Amino acid sequence: MNEAPAVRIRGLSLWYGAFRALEHVTMDVHRGEIMGLIGPSGCGKSTLLRCLNRLNDQPYVRIEGDLTIAGYDVMSPTTDTLALRRDVGMVFQRPNPLPISIRDNVLFGLRLHAPKTSKAEQEARMEGALREVMLWDDLKDRLHHDGESLSLEARQKLCIARLLPLKPTVLLFDEPCSALDPAGTAAVEELMRTLRGTYTQVVVTHNMQQARRISDRCAFMLMGELVELDDTAQLFTHPSDERTARYIEGRFG
Ligand SMILES: Nc1ncnc2c1ncn2[C@@H]1O[C@H](COP(=O)(O)OP(=O)(O)OP(=O)(O)O)[C@@H](O)[C@H]1O
Ligand SMILES: [Mg+2]
Repeated sequence: MNEAPAVRIRGLSLWYGAFRALEHVTMDVHRGEIMGLIGPSGCGKSTLLRCLNRLNDQPYVRIEGDLTIAGYDVMSPTTDTLALRRDVGMVFQRPNPLPISIRDNVLFGLRLHAPKTSKAEQEARMEGALREVMLWDDLKDRLHHDGESLSLEARQKLCIARLLPLKPTVLLFDEPCSALDPAGTAAVEELMRTLRGTYTQVVVTHNMQQARRISDRCAFMLMGELVELDDTAQLFTHPSDERTARYIEGRFG
């Protein structure tokens, strides 16, 4: 692959006060792939994900290292974090749309970032976003309904749709299915597979079966350290590090 990676992380360390939560993490995420992040609770998965769109900006947080995404020098104090977050969207564990209509949920970010967008363009982007997350056929006749009235699965898809009118390049997911039942989980995983190629996706998951099902490559973290990163099939069948092997055999975590 000769084009620049979508996400380039070099020697990233992070401290919460005196506690070091990331230790010199180095990795690339290729354009269009799904990268899984796995590891036991507290190993730093969410911390790493939050670095990617600067959600760790706190006075007691110190970060060292280099991080480049979609042309942004992410850690630079002069980086426009609003613009960064438009290009690098985040989906959280809880499917929490805003208590406004489905249409307004999808258009919320666009209206904030580009208030001069014409009504026709807004409608086109809203429809496009709902089509991309496979909700359009179901919802097109009730766009005025409250986003909170939807099933958990549809709400989580709506949270993904909200990012798309801004034309992001990278989508970050922090345990996106942990509030969903098996059918909802399967539907969101299917959606992520259809978004593969169009967007670069980084997915934190506790669920190793999910990591195996959806990720192209997978990174195993332990106590702030990136232990191993490989093609998902390889990582799960022939891990090169004993600690990865123990984790995927379910011996800890
Ligand atoms: N805001 C914070 N202030 C202080 N310590 C924090 C903060 N956020 C996380 N930590 C600590 O940093 C470490 C990594 O936390 P993080 O949430 O990144 O782990 P994780 O791998 O996402 O865990 P989980 O699987 O439970 O979500 C943990 O020891 C956690 O207690
Ligand atoms: Mg977490």
